[in-house]
Amino acid sequence: MPRALLLENIDPVATEILGSAGYEVESLRGALDEADLIAALDGVDLLGIRSKTQVTAEVLRSRPALEAVGAFCIGTNQIDLTAAAAAGVAVFNAPYSNTRSVVEMAIAEIIILARRLVDRDRSLHAGTWDKSAAGSHEIRGRTLGIIGYGNIGSQLSVLAEALGMRVIFYDLEDKLALGNAERCNSLDELLERAETVTLHVDGRAGNAGLFGAEQFARMRPRSLFLNLSRGFVLDHEALRDSILSGHIAGAAVDVFPHEPREQGDEFTSVLRGLPNVILTPHIGGSTQEAQHDIGRFVAGKLVDYTATGTTTLSVNLPTVVLHGSSADRFALLHRNVPGVLARVDALVGEHGLNVDAQVLATRGEHGYAVTDVSAPLPADLLAGLAALPEAVRLKRFGPRGG
Ligand SMILES: NC(=O)c1ccc[n+]([C@@H]2O[C@H](COP(=O)([O-])OP(=O)(O)OC[C@H]3O[C@@H](n4cnc5c(N)ncnc54)[C@H](O)[C@@H]3O)[C@@H](O)[C@H]2O)c1
Repeated sequence: MPRALLLENIDPVATEILGSAGYEVESLRGALDEADLIAALDGVDLLGIRSKTQVTAEVLRSRPALEAVGAFCIGTNQIDLTAAAAAGVAVFNAPYSNTRSVVEMAIAEIIILARRLVDRDRSLHAGTWDKSAAGSHEIRGRTLGIIGYGNIGSQLSVLAEALGMRVIFYDLEDKLALGNAERCNSLDELLERAETVTLHVDGRAGNAGLFGAEQFARMRPRSLFLNLSRGFVLDHEALRDSILSGHIAGAAVDVFPHEPREQGDEFTSVLRGLPNVILTPHIGGSTQEAQHDIGRFVAGKLVDYTATGTTTLSVNLPTVVLHGSSADRFALLHRNVPGVLARVDALVGEHGLNVDAQVLATRGEHGYAVTDVSAPLPADLLAGLAALPEAVRLKRFGPRGG
């Protein structure tokens, strides 16, 4: 029976899905360090982790039988993706499962900041009755500027518009504007027009320090600012200065350049204690609904990959979209050099077999060729394919993806 090891308290739906697909599943609450992980992976086909377990090149080298890793989260920095591809280990994550959760938190924070609810709440808890409309606004009719119009930015656009906001956005790519949202031609244009600016860019290295003193200075006086994307894209000192000077009327920050590792660890930030500033511990995507969907989504990807060879949404292997097949199928992950497909087809032909269907995709140093033939695959053909000098990993699948 194939085995799956799930670490870091992954939602039980993942165990259900893998169990139904015939896996013996062991689920542990915590993360494992490198040595313990290598020991625990003995005889394991699939590994599921969240953000704390490091899947290093050493782990992958030590356990060549491992087929795939599921990152039951969004980020995959904790996995050596290059080493995983070189070892023929597919890695999957859940890029959209918590999109809605982040969007709902952003909407809540926009309203909370516009009404200065944080300060009112703090005053009342401290015993001071401060009933006033000064500085409180409806969000209806106000202009929201979204920087980064991807999964989160575009969904936020739809919900903000439903609440009566005017939406403008800026993205490096030419994204489809949803509803009545309006594309800005430059970041500066967005900063000059928006009354609330919210960052939803991805974590590419070029975005380090994207938003700082210059960008705050371009924003309209008394505007609001949110960052729920990545900590390193924002200059926190510049935000502090802009809040203290009163140029920015309020801010919500969920992500930080250095986040405490453990529950209960001290959090240090220049943003602590500022008025009308909401600080949250990177919980934009942390809801039970998102965790459940992550469990469902990633476990599904692992099952589909091992059953059919499909690498849809793999973060490190070439993408080939496949379904089950009535044919016998093999998938060869190989070094991306000329002539491999010709050698594969020659070997198949030498065994008197006809290729029913074949797809090839490449990504960087690797190619992934999946071939269907309508006859059982002889053992010596499989041995010959696995022995090709360019072969990284050969997988075979029975008829109908079995
Ligand atoms: N706070 C949380 O808990 C939480 C949860 C999920 C995701 N996130 C973060 O939210 C961010 C957005 O996630 P997503 O799923 O929407 O990502 P995405 O990849 O779908 O969208 C990112 C968009 O930003 C654009 N972009 C990148 N750099 C840009 C720049 N410099 N200027 C303008 N546009 C730029 C891209 O073209 C893309 O359209 C990511 O950084 C992600 O890590 C945070």
